[in-house]
Amino acid sequence: MSGTPVLEIDDITVGYGGVPAIRGLSLSVGSGEILAVLGPNGAGKSTTLLAAVGALPIMSGTVTALGEPIHSAVEKNARRGITLVPDTRGVFHRLSVADNLRLATRKGGVDLDTVYGYFPKLKSMRSRRCGNLSGGEQQMLALAKALLTKPQVLLIDELSLGLSPIAVQELLPRLRSIADEQNMAVVLVEQHIDLALGIADAAIVLHHGRVALAASARDLRDRRETVEAAYFGRSEEADLAS
Ligand SMILES: Nc1ncnc2c1ncn2[C@@H]1O[C@H](COP(=O)(O)OP(=O)(O)O)[C@@H](O)[C@H]1O
Ligand SMILES: [Mg+2]
Repeated sequence: MSGTPVLEIDDITVGYGGVPAIRGLSLSVGSGEILAVLGPNGAGKSTTLLAAVGALPIMSGTVTALGEPIHSAVEKNARRGITLVPDTRGVFHRLSVADNLRLATRKGGVDLDTVYGYFPKLKSMRSRRCGNLSGGEQQMLALAKALLTKPQVLLIDELSLGLSPIAVQELLPRLRSIADEQNMAVVLVEQHIDLALGIADAAIVLHHGRVALAASARDLRDRRETVEAAYFGRSEEADLAS
């Protein structure tokens, strides 16, 4: 782990209607690094991402991004380069691929040709109506839209939801090379454990709103039983050396 931390979450408790959904959660990710966030349904993965981009009020603890406390307005954080690709995608179904992308372009962002270079398939489908794309193609478009804003911290919620393992196998390595090329920090919530560990630098496993396990991805690749134990709340080791 070499990058300077660009996102640091320290001991946060966040919930809904005063009821905590995550408790005492900490994580950190540096430029060019990918942190995989794993855990079963309801573990608090989406809540963690929403808190990290300022979309949910924090009950206690701190979120620091690019050296400053996170703002309570998501738009302000997005303008500073902290961008969430939510599990609801955020693509406009009635518009074409090209129009979706055009709406996401901005001054100082990554140019459209570079993004088409990352996803040549989108270029070939640029006049297609977005509602007619497959799930995988829509996910690719959502990722492409986020990249156009040149995020420094990109948070991705279950990009591969509903995709075939083959589609995921194609998408995740591409994300790895984009993170390297753009020196972008990525927090990746992902259900495909092996594929996520295959491209990540570090990983945490959440269980019942807490970090059950935190380690380098390399360590965890060879320790699937440890990862699974943490998933199901059986982990005794809270923290492997990373
Ligand atoms: N809008 C909400 N209102 C109330 N509780 C919620 C809401 N969203 C999530 N929760 C609860 O917070 C916990 C964590 O949910 P979530 O962060 O969505 O988990 P994950 O993304 O890991 O599946 C769950 O117990 C869930 O029921
Ligand atoms: Mg979720």
